[in-house]
Amino acid sequence: MTDASTDRFPNLHVVEHPLVEHKLTLMREVSTPVAQFRQLVREVAMLLAYEVTHDLPLDEVEIETPLMPMRARKLSGKKLCLVSILRAGNGLLEGMLDLMPSARVGHVGLYRDPKTLIPVEYYYKVPHDIDEREVIVVDPMLATANSAVAAVSRVKEDGPPNIRIVCLLAAPEGVERFHDAHPDVPVYTAALDEALNEKGYIVPGLGDAGDRIYGTK
Ligand code: PRP
Ligand code: URA
Repeated sequence: MTDASTDRFPNLHVVEHPLVEHKLTLMREVSTPVAQFRQLVREVAMLLAYEVTHDLPLDEVEIETPLMPMRARKLSGKKLCLVSILRAGNGLLEGMLDLMPSARVGHVGLYRDPKTLIPVEYYYKVPHDIDEREVIVVDPMLATANSAVAAVSRVKEDGPPNIRIVCLLAAPEGVERFHDAHPDVPVYTAALDEALNEKGYIVPGLGDAGDRIYGTK
């Protein structure tokens, strides 16, 4: 992992790994079919999950192996809550749950108004004890960051001790805006792309993540 952060983006972690880069390249290809795209999102999500959880706190517990007792470490406390920004966030969520099957899950329903690029909330449901859990917000694209900023602001109202956000692609404009709004929330991404185009799409990008996962265009 690189802290591509530098001075410009203090809280950005770019997950640099050959498997992540290879799979991301396949996802960017316009000819990649829906089924393969969906599977790739799931696989990259697992690799990102590994990185975003690298510093979770552990407790020592007493266990019995078939040979003898030992002290070993397990995740401490109430563990995790994954929060998916609908709908494309659900693609990443699946892979994260493959690796962390007992995580609790929340959903924030948001869509970008295509003209204003302002997010519109249509759904919100999170676990009742989210204030005792580490939260990982997932959404494949951090473009203008309007959606991520709004989702994290909403989740913060419920008081979790810690929030981090995971995406596949981030635009520099989005990272900057997100950091201005939520400097306490680290961003983990598989790649930092060049820019946003005039329609608010990340370039070179991979297109509309939701449409590519669900085949809606
Ligand atoms: C996409 C994506 C993010 C958002 C990113 O969702 O999944 O949520 O755009 O853009 P932003 O950083 O400029 O806010 P979209 O609004 O297309 O909805 P969908 O997930 O339902 O397809
Ligand atoms: N949402 C997407 O799905 N793709 C982009 O490039 C920007 C926002």
